[in-house]
Amino acid sequence: MSDYILVLDEGTTSTRAMLFASDGVFVASAQRELTQHYPQSGWVEHDAAEIWDKTLECALDVIPKAGGAAAIAAIGITNQRETVVAWDKSTGEPLTRAIVWQDRRTEPFCAELRKAGHEETVQQRTGLLLDPYFSGTKMRWILDNVAEVRAAADKGTLAFGTVESWLTFKLTGGMHVTDASNASRTLLLELAGAQFDEGLCDLFGVPRAALPEVIDMSGALAETDRSLFGRSIPIAGMAGDQQSATIGQACLSPGETKATYGTGAFVLTNQGSAIPHSDNRLLGTVLSQIGGTRTYAIEGSVFVAGSLVQWLRDSLGIVEVASQTEELARSIPDSGGVTIVPALAGLGAPHWRAEARGVISGLSFASGKPQLARAALEAMAHQTHDLAKAFSADGTAWETLRIDGGMAANTWMAQDLANVLNLPVERPDFVETTALGAAMLAAAGAGLYPDLQKAADAMRGKLTRFEPDMSEDIRSARLESWAKALAAA
Ligand code: G3P
Repeated sequence: MSDYILVLDEGTTSTRAMLFASDGVFVASAQRELTQHYPQSGWVEHDAAEIWDKTLECALDVIPKAGGAAAIAAIGITNQRETVVAWDKSTGEPLTRAIVWQDRRTEPFCAELRKAGHEETVQQRTGLLLDPYFSGTKMRWILDNVAEVRAAADKGTLAFGTVESWLTFKLTGGMHVTDASNASRTLLLELAGAQFDEGLCDLFGVPRAALPEVIDMSGALAETDRSLFGRSIPIAGMAGDQQSATIGQACLSPGETKATYGTGAFVLTNQGSAIPHSDNRLLGTVLSQIGGTRTYAIEGSVFVAGSLVQWLRDSLGIVEVASQTEELARSIPDSGGVTIVPALAGLGAPHWRAEARGVISGLSFASGKPQLARAALEAMAHQTHDLAKAFSADGTAWETLRIDGGMAANTWMAQDLANVLNLPVERPDFVETTALGAAMLAAAGAGLYPDLQKAADAMRGKLTRFEPDMSEDIRSARLESWAKALAAA
C-alpha cells in the first residue's frame, strides 16, 4: 500500500529527505550539508547542481526505508525561499551560482528604486519592501553581470526560479513551475495576481518569459520522471519553508501565529483571505493557494537566529554543539549585563537596516562563555518582542505563539520567549514543523485526506506549553538594555 509521504526539505545550510507515515509520524530521514560560498562580504551563494545532487541522494537513501518507491503516495517539497537559481532550459544545467536570500549585493539597486519613489507602490502590490532579501533584484543582478545568463535570455532558453522550481524542473525532467507562496517572495507577483506581473517585471528588468508558471500548493501538481525512482511519484505539495511551517503548526485560521527558529527567525500570522497590508514594516505574503483560492499571512522576517549560535560555535568556539547553550544559559542567574544584537547580516523586520552590524554590549571581566551563550539566546526573545510590537501596532496582536525549528528544541529559550513576550508559547514535541507542513499539503493533495484541515487534525503531534513567569522589573530592564544596544547596531 502506498501511504508514505516523502518530503524534500531544502534549507539554507542543508538539504534533507524525510519520510512520514500518513498519520504524520516521522519515520526516517537523510541529510546532507550544503557548501556555503562567501565570495565577498555580504555575498552568499549556493551551487544549484549540488543542491539537486544532494537532494536526490537523500531521497534515494530514504525511499528504501518505506519499502521502495511503490510505497510513496506523494512527494512534498519545501525550501529556503527567495534564493534564485538561473538555468538553461535546453541543457537543464545551472548557468551560474544561486544567489542566496541572505545576500546583500543588490542594496544599491534597491536604494535607487527607493530613491525613485517606488517603495510604496511595490509594497502595496506585492506586500514586500525594497530590500535585497527578495528575488527580483537578485535576478536583475545576474542578468546584468553574467554574460551566459544574458545570452540564454536572448536565445529564449533562460529559466529563473526559486529552489522548489529548480528541484521540480529536475524531478519532472523539464516542468517550469513555482508555487504561489514562493512566487510571492520575488517582488514580481501581485498579492492578488494569479501569474507574474508584466509591469513589475519591467520595473525590475526581469524578462517574464524566463519566469515559471505559478501553481497551487496542494493537489496533483506534477509527476516525477520515471527514470529517477523506478516509477513516477506524484508531487502533491509545495511551499516555501515558512509557509509550510505555518501549515505544519496548523495555523489555518485567521490570527493563529507561529515562529520558526532556523537559520533565521520567521513569524507568520494567518490573515485568512484578506490581502494583508502593514503600516509597521512587516510583509504581506501568500500563505496558501489550493484550487486557485488563496489565503495570506503577515510576516516578520529576522535574518539571524540559529546562525548566531552557529557563529558562537564555529567562529568563537564558545560551544562545541549548539545544544550546550542551554546548560550554559541555565548555569547563571542572568547574562551579567551582556546584550547581543545579532545584526551579522543587517537587520530585517521591523527595522530593515541593511547596513546595520552586530553589537555585543555590557562586557566586563566577569563576562565569559555562559554570559555570551545566554545573551545569544536572550537575543531571540528580544528580536521576537520587536516583531510582537509591530504586529500589535498593525492590529494583529498574538494570543499564543507556536514555536518550532531546530532552535526551539532549546527549552530554556522557549521559556524565555514566553517570559519576555508575556504570552503563552506552545511547542510541538516534533519541532520539524516545516517538513510536517509539506507532508500535510502532499497528503491532502494526494487525496489521503479530504482537505488540509483534516490532514492537519490527523497529522499534528503533541504540544508542550510554556506560561510566562518573569517579574515585570526584570522584563523591562531586559528590554531597555536591548533598545540601547540596538541603537548602537
Ligand atoms: O526566507 C528565508 C527562509 O525561507 C530561510 O529559512 O529555514 O533556512 O531559516 P531557514
